[in-house]
This record gives sequence, structure tokens and C-alpha cells, in this order.
Amino acid sequence: MDHAHVAADLDLDQTLISEEQIHARLDDLAGSIEADYKEHDLLLVGVLKGAVMVMADLARALNRHVEMDWMAISSYGSGTKSSGVVRILKDLDTDIAGRHVLIVEDVVDTGLTLSWLTANLKSRGPASVEIAALLRKPEAAHMQVAVKYVGFEIPDAFVVGYGLDYDERYRNLRSIGTLAPHVYSQ
Ligand code: IMP
Repeated sequence: MDHAHVAADLDLDQTLISEEQIHARLDDLAGSIEADYKEHDLLLVGVLKGAVMVMADLARALNRHVEMDWMAISSYGSGTKSSGVVRILKDLDTDIAGRHVLIVEDVVDTGLTLSWLTANLKSRGPASVEIAALLRKPEAAHMQVAVKYVGFEIPDAFVVGYGLDYDERYRNLRSIGTLAPHVYSQ
């Protein structure tokens, strides 16, 4: 392991989900997705930047043809909470009319981002739109956003690693964990 990884890992207070657990769970989800989309083409839509790692590993766990496209959106929020008011920074390259779309996301917290995105994509006339999220926090249960494939239910804590950032750092950690208090106080 290189020094940068070791240094970043030291900022973790607690590892919630290990690399092995993530990969095992993504294999499970890939099995369900393969079965559910047997008869259909499949377009994976990743939400930049957090979903990059999930997309890369989930797509490789799928033993079938898939296409991948990306959206970048920014949510006008205060601090770490999103507001549901969303702006598209990068739109899809693909016309999704008639396509089976599976949104790939890192974490559903309030669910505001995903309910906006789902509505936006549904207005483009796709055959279907579903969601796969690696993590789901408890607050998401209050929202009317149906996440068909959930990796892990996690407590309401701010987590980093495996694509998830704090101030653009820690996305490259292999596992997911909570940050040590000294990081926030710097
Ligand atoms: P929501 O709209 O509240 O569901 O927020 C979803 C987005 O907020 C995610 O795509 C992340 O970018 C960000 N987010 C929510 N919780 C966390 C976290 O614990 N760590 C890092 N980013 C998070």
C-alpha cells in the first residue's frame, strides 16, 4: 500500500464497511440486476463524482452487456445537507427514450437529489428508470424515492471513502468509514 493511502486511512475514526464487504455486496446486487434485466438492454447512469467507484465495480460485476453514461449535478444546499434544488452541470450523452435506465448512486441521504433526478429522467420517455445505491441512510425512508437495489443501510453519520468525499478528499479510500474528529477541527 502506498503512503498516500496509509495517510488518508489514518483519518478514519471507524471503518463501517470494508473493501471485501463492498465487493461481496456488489456481486449480490449484480446477480439481482442480471436476473431482473434478462430480457432488456441496460443503461447504467452514474452520478458524478461520488458514484465513480460503485459504477466501476458494479459494472464489472455484471456478466452481460451494459452501456454507461454519466451526469453531474449540483445541489444548492447549505453545508452537508442537500436542498432538492438541483442544477445539471453535465447532462447525459445518450438519448434515453425507450431505454431501460438504472441510476447508480453512492448514497441516499434525504433522497432529494434522487427524487429530482428520477423525475427528470422519467420526463425523457425511457422504458424504465430504477435506482441502485450502495448506501442508504435512515432519513431516506421518509422520502417517496424507491431505491430498488440497496447495498447497505447505514446510520445517520457522515461517511467518506469509496467515492464519497469530505471537501473533495477521501474518495480514493478503498473502504467506507467515519472521519476522526481531528479532521473536522482543522
Ligand atoms: P440527498 O439528496 O440528501 O439524498 O444527498 C445525496 C448526496 O449528498 C450524495 O450523492 C452525496 O454527494 C452527498 N452525501 C450525503 N451523505 C453523504 C455522506 O455521508 N458523505 C459524503 N457525501 C454525502
